[in-house]
Amino acid sequence: MKEWKIALVPGDGIGPEVVAEGVKVLQAIEKLDDTLSFEFERFPWGCEYYLEHQKMMADDGIEQLENFDAIYLGAVGYPGVPDHISLWDLLLKIRKGFDQYVNLRPVRLLNEELTPIKSKSEKDIDFLVIRENSEGEYAGAGDWLFKGKKEEVVLQTGVFSRKGTERIIRYAFEEARKQQKSLTSISKANALNYSMVFWDEVFEEVGKEYPDVKTESYLVDAASMFFVMQPERFEIVVTSNLFGDILTDIGAAITGGMGLATGANVNPERDYPSMFEPVHGSAPDIAGRGIANPIAAIWSVAQMLEHFGEEEWGSIVVDTIKEIIDEKKVLTPDLGGKHSTSEVGDYFVEKIAGKLHHK
Ligand code: NAD
Ligand code: IPM
Ligand code: MN
Repeated sequence: MKEWKIALVPGDGIGPEVVAEGVKVLQAIEKLDDTLSFEFERFPWGCEYYLEHQKMMADDGIEQLENFDAIYLGAVGYPGVPDHISLWDLLLKIRKGFDQYVNLRPVRLLNEELTPIKSKSEKDIDFLVIRENSEGEYAGAGDWLFKGKKEEVVLQTGVFSRKGTERIIRYAFEEARKQQKSLTSISKANALNYSMVFWDEVFEEVGKEYPDVKTESYLVDAASMFFVMQPERFEIVVTSNLFGDILTDIGAAITGGMGLATGANVNPERDYPSMFEPVHGSAPDIAGRGIANPIAAIWSVAQMLEHFGEEEWGSIVVDTIKEIIDEKKVLTPDLGGKHSTSEVGDYFVEKIAGKLHHK
């Protein structure tokens, strides 16, 4: 019997609503598979916690999370607490504190009716974005000088270390080799004359060790255009923290929206727990109404199961998502349905139970 300890950080807005459905799915799997068990502990951290305690998480929050096998996060950020505080003191603190330097964000179209792009189908949109997740534009280095004065100056410094740049690019080459796919680097060396020139050089350099991997290198502006016009160009993509953030919202847009996109924040060395979360935020505009799409959060569960070495369960979860989408019977409003968050979760559990006979 394998026992996995999972820390739940549902967070704000629709975070708790969608995490509840992901937990339902894990509990259903545990019932179906007697070799697996999950133990959950819920942490109440987020913006409400901040308003009460003037901090986003407990002082020893990182230590409290350290001994879990994984962290399952909903979303962080809500009006009333400045975003740069809520995100830096919780989500980014965990990503950085646990050196989750790899962010794996699949961009996979499950049904051609989901894409707004004319004449593209499942085979055209199926790639993986590997986003640098620990430094770069998100290093948090900078200053705010002469605040409020007329000579005010604000600096936000991108930090691209040799170690940080090399390890993410190497990770991407390894993944491309393993999957026998091409690797596309996305950068911006024409304008960012230090950081991105360096990025491109490291990509070239590391690439020499992988002559078997076919490579491409695009500028981020052109790449954004190709994400929409010719997504079939991409198989594995490696890019910086900020570019990866923006590009994966485009990735969500071309595959059915924010309600479907997932991401894994991985510490490949497994020195620390990895964290699984939907790409979307707390969606204050729909929070509390029970209409958030839980599929992105359920897809995160599939990524978690793969991380645990339960690849078969990971595929069953993604296949079940696809079936539910293809059927169009039980869907939330963002996908044109009339059902609630929990109805989609319940239906998912019903479907997955029926499938086990084939496992
Ligand atoms: P958002 O992703 O929360 O919402 C963007 C749009 O997508 C909204 O119209 C929302 O209703 C819709 N949407 C998002 N998830 C959905 C779902 N599961 N089902 C249906 N519709 C969904 O982005 P935002 O509005 O820019 O940010 C809101 C807050 O969330 C901010 O505080 C922001 O900083 C934070 N944020 C957090 C994360 C995170 O925790 N990982 C990610 C992005 C934004
Ligand atoms: C994401 C989010 C975060 C990011 C924010 C909330 C800090 O947009 O996970 O995509 O930019 O990484
Ligand atoms: Mn984002």
